[in-house]
Amino acid sequence: MRKPDYPHADVEKWSSVDSYFSTLLAPADPVLDAALVANATAGLPAHDVSAMQGKLLALMARMIGARRVLEIGTLGAYSTIWFARALPASGTIVTVEANPNYAEIARANIDRAGLSNRVELRVGKALDVLPLLEAEAAGPFDLIFIDADKPNNPDYLRWALRLARPGTVIIGDNVVRGGAVADADSDDANVVGVRAFLDMIAADPRLDATAIQTVGEKGWDGFALAVVRDTAEGER
Ligand code: DHB
Ligand code: MG
Repeated sequence: MRKPDYPHADVEKWSSVDSYFSTLLAPADPVLDAALVANATAGLPAHDVSAMQGKLLALMARMIGARRVLEIGTLGAYSTIWFARALPASGTIVTVEANPNYAEIARANIDRAGLSNRVELRVGKALDVLPLLEAEAAGPFDLIFIDADKPNNPDYLRWALRLARPGTVIIGDNVVRGGAVADADSDDANVVGVRAFLDMIAADPRLDATAIQTVGEKGWDGFALAVVRDTAEGER
C-alpha cells in the first residue's frame, strides 16, 4: 500500500476500494507502473495522483474532447501520461516542471511511454514559463491542470485564465488536504494558497466551479473543478 499524503483511520478501507476499482477500471499498466517505480526510486515526493484519479482526469479530458492540455507541475509525469493518452493523435499536452531533476525523470517516463511526440515538457518555474506560453500564443488550452506548489495557486489561476477560452476546464489538485482546507485560521502556506485560490475562483464571474472530496490510497483530498463561462452565458 502506498503511504497516503493524508492518513485517516479508514485509509485502509479506502485503499482496498481503490484497489478493487482500479483492478476493474484502470488495470495494471506496464508503462504507468514503471513511471511510478521510477519516481519512487528517484526519491520524488509521492505526490503522483492515484490510478483512479489519473483515470478521472483522462476521462474528463475525453469528455470535453480536449486537444490541448496544460499541466502546471509535472513531477514525474504520471498524470501527464494519463492526459497524453486521453488526447487524439493530433493532441498535445504542455507540462511545466520547475525542478530539473524531476523533469529528467519525467522525460524518461514520457519517452518510455512512447508519448514524446504528444508531450511538450517545459523546464522552469511556472511563473517564468507561463508568460512565455502566452507570448508564443501557445493557448488557448482546452483543459488546465494546476498541480504544483500550492502557495502560488492564485498566480497559477491568473495565468490559467489568460491561457484559457470560454469552455476551458480548470482543475486544481489537492484542495482538501486531509480536511485542513476548512480551517480559515490555518498558517500552513499550502492551505493558505489553496484557500486564496478557491476564494478567487468563487469571486470570478468568468468561472463556474465546484470542488469534490476524494478518498482512497492517497488518503483524503480532492479537486477543484471550474469551467470558464461563455461570455453570452448569464449567472446561473
Ligand atoms: C502535495 C502536493 C500534491 O500535488 C499532492 O498531490 C499531494 C500533496 C503537497 O504539497 O503536500
Ligand atoms: Mg497533486
